[in-house]
Amino acid sequence: MQIFREGLLEGQVCVVSGAGTGLGRAIALELASLGATVIGCGRRPEPISETVEMIREVGGIAESEAMDIRDAEAVDAFFDGVLERRGRVDVLVNNAGGQFMSPAETVTPKGFRTVIELNVQGTWQMTHAAATKAFIPQRSGKVVSVTLSPHQGMPGMAHSGAARAAVENMMRTLSIEWARFNIKLCAVAAGQFDTEVIRTKYPPQVSENVAHTIPLQRMGTPEEMAWMIAYLASPAGDFLSGCVITIDGARDNWFGPWPPPGATGESGEPLAEERRSRDPEQP
Ligand SMILES: NC(=O)c1ccc[n+]([C@@H]2O[C@H](COP(=O)([O-])OP(=O)(O)OC[C@H]3O[C@@H](n4cnc5c(N)ncnc54)[C@H](OP(=O)(O)O)[C@@H]3O)[C@@H](O)[C@H]2O)c1
Repeated sequence: MQIFREGLLEGQVCVVSGAGTGLGRAIALELASLGATVIGCGRRPEPISETVEMIREVGGIAESEAMDIRDAEAVDAFFDGVLERRGRVDVLVNNAGGQFMSPAETVTPKGFRTVIELNVQGTWQMTHAAATKAFIPQRSGKVVSVTLSPHQGMPGMAHSGAARAAVENMMRTLSIEWARFNIKLCAVAAGQFDTEVIRTKYPPQVSENVAHTIPLQRMGTPEEMAWMIAYLASPAGDFLSGCVITIDGARDNWFGPWPPPGATGESGEPLAEERRSRDPEQP
């Protein structure tokens, strides 16, 4: 489905981390379909070159480079290369990230550190390199970092919940510090989206039931995330900075459907208090 007008992002150079799979691929395809030049990265070369092929097949402009966002030197070299070839960077989408589901008591120091290094340190290195090498000299740029919803607690993912909260604060802080360079930074807190990783990496009990934990009773589609990122990359997003946009079918507010199963009227309607007023004139 096409939401935005053709050519909306023409002339923009957009870097998308984790562009070879799931949300990152959908974001790369959407930005390229609107005319942006997309540079995808990820650790494995195959998935990112497949995304590039998909973009080129329909006449879009894209390239990719295998790179680990945790490796500060590789990140620097990556942005140097992009600037040498493309001359500028307009948008950085920090989509690469991940974690492993595990009860908090079994998370080892190494496991915790790995999740923090990927999601916090990696995101920081990408953001810092994009800003110092491209956005600050250009006096313009946008960063969108994908984080997690729900915000009120992330059982089974203590490391990732902590990491994504750190990233959201990083975006808020930098949106103040770098406003003087006309750099806009937002986080997009993703609820559950129907990507391969959610279907195959997590235990089947999770993937089979997760939709029922969402008030809208379905997962998001990768395209819905991609449209949000395209909106932010477009002029419509020019005054959005320092905020967290939660895109999660209302999951941040409530676990499951409303009314809750087992607490409904006979035909499934929400329960209401019986009103007993002593004075018939009073409500
Ligand atoms: N799907 C959901 O329901 C959901 C919900 C909330 C948040 N999110 C977040 O949204 C983002 C995308 O999710 P997804 O579902 O599309 O998962 P995914 O398919 O696992 O995407 C993660 C991407 O990041 C790349 N990546 C991982 N570590 C990297 C590293 N060190 N350096 C560079 N690239 C790296 C991976 O490619 P390589 O393995 O080749 O490096 C992969 O393409 C992630 O940050 C995820 O945590 C997803």
